[in-house]
Amino acid sequence: MSVSVETRDVSITFGTGPAAVRVLPSVSFSVSPGECFALVGESGSGKSTVLRCISMLTDIWAGDILIDGKPVREMPLIERCRTLQMVFQDPYGSLHPRQSVRTVLSEPLVIHRLGDREERMRKAITDVGLPVSFLDRFPHQLSGGQRQRVAIARALILEPSLLLLDEPTSALDVSVQAEILNLLQRLREERGFTYIMVTHDLAVVDHMCDRFAVMLGGEITEVLPREAIPANGATHPYARELIGASLEYESAH
Ligand SMILES: Nc1ncnc2c1ncn2[C@@H]1O[C@H](COP(=O)(O)OP(=O)(O)O)[C@@H](O)[C@H]1O
Ligand SMILES: [Mg+2]
Repeated sequence: MSVSVETRDVSITFGTGPAAVRVLPSVSFSVSPGECFALVGESGSGKSTVLRCISMLTDIWAGDILIDGKPVREMPLIERCRTLQMVFQDPYGSLHPRQSVRTVLSEPLVIHRLGDREERMRKAITDVGLPVSFLDRFPHQLSGGQRQRVAIARALILEPSLLLLDEPTSALDVSVQAEILNLLQRLREERGFTYIMVTHDLAVVDHMCDRFAVMLGGEITEVLPREAIPANGATHPYARELIGASLEYESAH
């Protein structure tokens, strides 16, 4: 159920000619099966772009991305959807306002021609801690945290092995953030998922990730284990600064 991920010299340029912007010059990192790997760094540093490349939401990148040793580019769409799923920051934007939870969850099952739909939907909704009756609700009848649970259920319904989480809690109230992080943590423990998670919050990394890459201007400055946070074990000046600022913030709150 767990898969490894490897990116080798992944680069991407948006635009052409004089307007071309090389957003990722060359990104390489490896994630072990079942690992939670975080991407941190300031806004615009390329974190979401890395996830979009891995998930093939954009395919104009160069380099290699391997999932369990297989080039993601060569995976048929069906196989890719069953291997990896993304969860986005904004549960308001990622659910269609006129679609019931049942419709949201049944769509992938219909597309992938999977049977036992009702049973799969019941399992997915209860797996994310919501009652089965919520299948008949619409997004406006859900709180922010409940919507993000539905977005996670949608990601789980095809039983993928790799979840790409793009700031999955940053649009939520602080009180709800921990609930969603605990849910993600529990799901990983139960299913052995591999996670690649974008976050700007080192407290989140410290809470649930094994290692993290610090990005700056599209490049990975340093990959560090979680244990490097409390004593600020970074060597790259920017990574040191980022961890230092987070530790100051933590001690002041
Ligand atoms: N489709 C695109 N076209 C042009 N520039 C883009 C596109 N997507 C992202 N960028 C640029 O790439 C950089 C990195 O963006 P992003 O990966 O979203 O950063 P982050 O998630 O770290 O905030 C930003 O400067 C952004 O403006
Ligand atoms: Mg982003």
